[in-house]
Amino acid sequence: MSQTLPEKDQPSSRRVPSVSSTDANSRQNPLPQATIRETLQILRDVELPMIAKGPIIRRPKVVELVARTGWETQAVKRMQKVADRYGTGPLMLSTPKKMAMVLDPEHVHRILDASPEPFATAETLKRHALKHFEPKVSLISHGEERTQRRQLNEAALDTDHPIHRMAESFMPAVREEAEALLREVDAKGGTLEYPDFYQAWFRVVRRVVLGDSHRDDRQITDLTEKLRGDGNWAFLKPVDKAGRKDLLDQIGAALSKAEPGSLAAFMKDMDFGPEDQPANQVPQWFFAFDPAGMASARSLALLAEHPEHMAKAREQIAAEGAETAPMLQHLRGTVLESLRLWATTPMILRETTREVEFEHGVMPAGTSVLIFAPFFHRDERNLDFAHSFSPEIWEEPRTRDQWPLMPFSAGTAICPGRHLVLLLTSNFLAEIIRAKDVTLTSHSLEPGSMPGLLNNFTLEFELTSPA
Ligand code: HEM
Repeated sequence: MSQTLPEKDQPSSRRVPSVSSTDANSRQNPLPQATIRETLQILRDVELPMIAKGPIIRRPKVVELVARTGWETQAVKRMQKVADRYGTGPLMLSTPKKMAMVLDPEHVHRILDASPEPFATAETLKRHALKHFEPKVSLISHGEERTQRRQLNEAALDTDHPIHRMAESFMPAVREEAEALLREVDAKGGTLEYPDFYQAWFRVVRRVVLGDSHRDDRQITDLTEKLRGDGNWAFLKPVDKAGRKDLLDQIGAALSKAEPGSLAAFMKDMDFGPEDQPANQVPQWFFAFDPAGMASARSLALLAEHPEHMAKAREQIAAEGAETAPMLQHLRGTVLESLRLWATTPMILRETTREVEFEHGVMPAGTSVLIFAPFFHRDERNLDFAHSFSPEIWEEPRTRDQWPLMPFSAGTAICPGRHLVLLLTSNFLAEIIRAKDVTLTSHSLEPGSMPGLLNNFTLEFELTSPA
């Protein structure tokens, strides 16, 4: 059975021809298909750098290679060429596994709105990657299981509130760990390097998620990292079942302690059904706080290289200084911009659970649907801010009628942790820039011409006390 996509709220300027289940043209036609040569070019320029960098945990040496060679810029150019030739698509690739690239902004909205039916989040490759450390996480679940797990995530992460209701008890961790980091930096003569930034950030993360007693519990996050490393290999590596059990047991034990002030305590009595599987949701949080650290360090670099925005962020910090857990919109916009410019989830994946009709043909059931975010985020043909740092674009929530920017995905599977991430990252950054003047010493960012990738691992700053 095929299904017609909902045509919700389409802006008139981008209205697409209507489709119906009796549309003879689309029924007869398969979607356009890339030639084998074009498919290989797409795999080389778009897929390969992403897989080589490490989709689940980054490989620093490959990140450096990709940044140095401008591979990410090449990926966007490749997609632009493909879109020039095939218009709105979606474009089927000539691969043994059915795969389609999304080319049209309106299709992005419609596909992400129509998850998990008929566009399941539990895409095949994603399932193989994530099963190494979180086989029952919502993202690779379907049906009733997914419903319960998604509900648990939304409730625990307080998705409906821009400021998590536990924010007040998270802020001491943010402040104290930022202060400890600044003391380390002072001891090193003022140099801030990414590895130290990352360790401090993860002390915040462990305290917020599991409680203060887990501040130095690197065992739990190191084990998650090890299993994420296995996840990079997806089905090419056997699952380390003992390691996975160990991780889920450790998390289960930490959750049942429900240490006051932590997310573990907040979710203690939550119950969304027998399949909600709390311990399986938490590795996804540890996983996702890693890109949040990357985005924060890149945000610091953006601010250091754009003094007018640094000044504006500081003004806001001063203005909201009396609040226990301030909103800090300009810093939130900065983190969102870092994620737009250098998406940490560059490929959003869905899989069709049945045939789906588009204007120009039918997408078969079992097709992996690929939305390559940088193609939309860095499209200078449609966005005048494509390669600039423009935090002001995030001052108002973006609507469905606008060009799709999806640092946290969109639609029904949008990241349920996004507000918590922005709360913690913005306040962590605030602690640093309130106390120190920041100079980026490792890179030079030319305003209006942001690189295709900014290597977070090699970021280095000089921090000095304000005169
Ligand atoms: C900068 C940091 C982060 C980014 C860029 C990010 C981005 C994303 C994206 C793009 C998705 C959707 C993937 C899809 O549509 O297939 C997602 C899903 C998810 N994220 Fe985040 N995320 C971040 C941090 C976090 C954090 C810190 C948490 C938890 C504390 C979290 C929890 C989740 C969960 C549970 C899902 C799965 C949702 C579902 O199954 O529907 N994320 N995230």
